[in-house]
Amino acid sequence: MYYLLAVKKAGLPGFFGVPAQKRPGSFTLAQHSPKPLNPIGKRNTMKEKLEELGKMVAEAQLGGGQKRIDAQHNKGKLTARERIHFLLDEGSFEEIGMLVVHRSYDFDMQKQQYLGDGVVTGYGTIHGRLVYVFAQDFTVFGGSLSESHAEKICRIMDLAMRNGAPVIGLNDSGGARIQEGVKSLGGYADIFYRNVMSSGVVPQISAIMGPCAGGAVYSPAMTDFTVMVEGTSYMFVTGPNVVKTVTNEEVTAEELGGASAHSMKSGVTHLTAANDIDCIEQIKRLMSYIPQNCEETTPVLPYEVGEEYRPELTGLIPESPNQPYDMRDVVKGIVDRDSFLEIHEHYADNIIVGFARIAGRSVGIVGNQPMSLAGVLDVDSSKKGARFVRFCDCFNIPLLVLVDVPGFLPGTDQEWNGIIINGSKLLYAFSEATVPRVTVITRKAYGGAYDVMNSKHIGADMNFAWPTAEVAVMGAKGASEIIFRKEIAAADDPEAVLLEKEKEYQEKFASPYRAARRGFIDEVIDPAVTRRKLIKAFAMLENKVAHIPKKKHGNIPL
Ligand code: HXC
Repeated sequence: MYYLLAVKKAGLPGFFGVPAQKRPGSFTLAQHSPKPLNPIGKRNTMKEKLEELGKMVAEAQLGGGQKRIDAQHNKGKLTARERIHFLLDEGSFEEIGMLVVHRSYDFDMQKQQYLGDGVVTGYGTIHGRLVYVFAQDFTVFGGSLSESHAEKICRIMDLAMRNGAPVIGLNDSGGARIQEGVKSLGGYADIFYRNVMSSGVVPQISAIMGPCAGGAVYSPAMTDFTVMVEGTSYMFVTGPNVVKTVTNEEVTAEELGGASAHSMKSGVTHLTAANDIDCIEQIKRLMSYIPQNCEETTPVLPYEVGEEYRPELTGLIPESPNQPYDMRDVVKGIVDRDSFLEIHEHYADNIIVGFARIAGRSVGIVGNQPMSLAGVLDVDSSKKGARFVRFCDCFNIPLLVLVDVPGFLPGTDQEWNGIIINGSKLLYAFSEATVPRVTVITRKAYGGAYDVMNSKHIGADMNFAWPTAEVAVMGAKGASEIIFRKEIAAADDPEAVLLEKEKEYQEKFASPYRAARRGFIDEVIDPAVTRRKLIKAFAMLENKVAHIPKKKHGNIPL
C-alpha cells in the first residue's frame, strides 16, 4: 500500500534515531526508574544516565509494543509518530510530555503503564510555520483518553493559545479510558472547554484517522475543520452495538459513521482522504490558506502574472436561464491557477464553499451551484455557507461571493426542517462579517436570496454583476402569473398574454441595470475582466477596518 511503502521508504521503524534491532523490547517502568547503581551510594555516571534515558526514549517510541504497531499497520494505518513525521517539516518536531504515564490503580492498571500514555504531543512547523500537534496512539489502550492523556492535550492547546499558532489533532481513539471513569470524562470536558476558548483565536484542525467514539468526536466537532480517512475512520457517539440495543437498528460502523456518511449525509466532516498520507497532505494544503491566529493575515504565495484577462468566462452562461452550468468553472476562471480547495464538496452541493488565491492572497469563496437544485438555498446549504463565512471572518480571510440563486427552496420538508431559522444563519453570518466582502452576480439573484447572498444592503464592500445578471423579486414567468393573473385569465388567448407580460417583466427587471442605477451594483462588467476587477477590489480593501457594535456576543439563530 502507498503509505506503508512510504513508511518503508522513510526508514521505519529505525528512523526515530533508535534502530529497531537495538530497541530494548518491552520494559516495565520499574526497570528504569532513577536509582543508585551500587550499594555504597556512588551515583550513576553521565554515560549510564544517558543510557537509561535512551532506554526510556526507545520504549516511548514503541507505544503499546511492536505487536500492536504491526496490527495498526495491518489495518492500513500509520502510527501516531509516523503521522507526525509526515505532517511536520523534517526534523522540526519537538515532543512534550514523552514520559507522562497514567495515574490509575483501579483494575491493576499500575501494571500497564506506557510512556506517553497514548498520545504524542508537541510542536513543529509546516512549511516553516509553527503548529502545535497531538497524535493519539491507538496502540496504547486504543488511544483512549485518560486524565494524564487529556492533560497533555490541554497543555498543547494552552501553548497554542498563548503563542498564537494553530492546533492540529490527529485523532484515533476509543473515547473515554473506561478504566478511569469520571477522571476521563473530566479530561474531555477540559479539552472541550479549551476548544471553545480557542475557537476564533487560533485555527483548530482535526484529522480522524481511526475509530473515534464517544468523547473522541465532540472535540473534533468543535474544531474548524475535520478530515476523515476513508475506510479506516469512523465517528459516532455510540457504535453499532449500542445502536442495535437501543433502537434495534442493524448498521455497520461504516454506514453509521464512516467518511462517506459524514461527508455526504451529516456534514460533520469537511474533507475526506484516501489514506493517512493523503489526509496529512490535505491538512498541509489547508494550512496554506489560513493565518496563524485571528490577528494575523494569511500567507501570500507566488502566482503567475499576466493572465488576468480570462475570455473563457464570457461564454460560460448558457442562453437559456434554466440551463445549468458549473459554478466551479467560474471559480477556476477567476482565481490563481489550481488554487481552489473545495470544502464540504459532497454535502449540500447546491452551494460551493472553499479557499482559493487571488493574486497570491487567500480568499474564501461562497457560490450558488446551478448544477444542483438550480443553486437554490435550502436548510443544509445555508448551514454550510454560514459556518464557512464565520470561519473566514474569524481569521481575516476576505470573502468572494458568486451569485446565481433562484431563491429559497419551498415545501413542507424545508419549512418543517426550519428553513426560516437556517436560512437566517447565512444572512446573519454575512451581515456580521467584517472582512473585505465582494460579490459577483453571474445570473439570477432573486427574492430574499438576493439580500442574503452578500448584497450591498448587508454590508458587502463591492458588488459586481455580469450583463447576464437578473436582479428581481422572482423569475419573469412566476411574477407575471401573479401580478397579471386577472388580465391573463380574462384574455381570449391567455398563453399569448402571459408570454407578452413575461417579456415586459423580463425587459424591465431581468437585468442588472435597475440595481446598478440604484447603486446596489457598483459596476456591470464583461465576465472576461472579472479576475482583473477582483484583484484590484481586494487590493483596495486590504486595509479595511470595520467594527460591529460593542456587545458581549450576538445571538446567531442556531
Ligand atoms: C480503554 C480501550 C478503549 C477504551 C479500546 N480500548 N477502547 N481501553 N478504554 N475506551 C482498548 C481495547 O481494550 C484493546 O486493548 C485496544 O484498545 C484496541 O481495541 P480493540 O477493541 O481491540 O480494537 P478495534 O476492534 O479496532 O475496536 C476499536 C473500538 C472499540 C471501536 C474503538 O475498541 C470500542 O468500541 N471501544 C469502546 C468505545 C467506547 O464505547 N468508548 C467509551 C465512550 S464513552 P488491547 O489490550 O487488547 O490492545 C465516552 C464518554 C465521553 O467517550 C463523553 C464526553 C461527552
